[in-house]
Amino acid sequence: MQKTHHWSLNTMSARPLVAGNWKMNGNPQSVEEFRKMAEGYTPELAAKVELLICPPAVFLAQLANENSISVGAQNCHSAVSGAHTGDISAEMIKSVGGTAVIVGHSERREGYGETDADVAAKAEAAWRAGITAVVCIGESLEQREAGETIAVVTEQITKSLPDATTSENTVVAYEPIWAIGTGKTPTAQDVADVHKALRDSLVERFGEDGSKIRLLYGGSVKPSNADELLNLANVNGALVGGASLKADDFLGIAGAYLNF
Ligand code: PGA
Repeated sequence: MQKTHHWSLNTMSARPLVAGNWKMNGNPQSVEEFRKMAEGYTPELAAKVELLICPPAVFLAQLANENSISVGAQNCHSAVSGAHTGDISAEMIKSVGGTAVIVGHSERREGYGETDADVAAKAEAAWRAGITAVVCIGESLEQREAGETIAVVTEQITKSLPDATTSENTVVAYEPIWAIGTGKTPTAQDVADVHKALRDSLVERFGEDGSKIRLLYGGSVKPSNADELLNLANVNGALVGGASLKADDFLGIAGAYLNF
């Protein structure tokens, strides 16, 4: 298996990113768990990896600017404001201290019919507001079994990323749908193969800067598999669901970077 240490400052300008997606979990007391995460986020660890937590939007203002861990949202509308009941804009996320927004998570694509075009519009909204877009892509089990994974994710990454994508304004998360919340993960080789294909596609389209866009792996990442999954070539961090709810688990995953 090809390993990489290319996050040394010589070749990469950004640290890898471990991002937590709390989904529809949490309560006002979750700030305590978030504080525990920050306590364990030592300068040594911070030198190696950036951390981001995306709580439900109602807790954003409470957690943002609380400590050295960045905070973001799980979704946004593409408009600045208007008659969109129940939605929030990227500008609102920014206004309370959020620095990123996840767009195109498979639970949004599947549950709310979000298309690649919708996702691209939300990424542009994030940039308009001055926050980072974390753009999610990933194949279904049916597509995986039909051998369509590379074709599917390549099409998604092409259509979900607007032309103005840069390594500064965007992070891409590859999340096989069948691996989310199931405890199942692809093999390390499968992850490496998909990330290589995604990297090639990014470099082909965005040139040198495409080699710097951070590519996260997501889907049942936990402390016990973080070492294997996060040390692969072209894997520049993780998007973590269930294991981001507990400080010990989240820090256990981020702590993998101390070993590389
Ligand atoms: P999981 O979720 O880590 O619970 O599998 C990942 C995600 O949906 O981002």
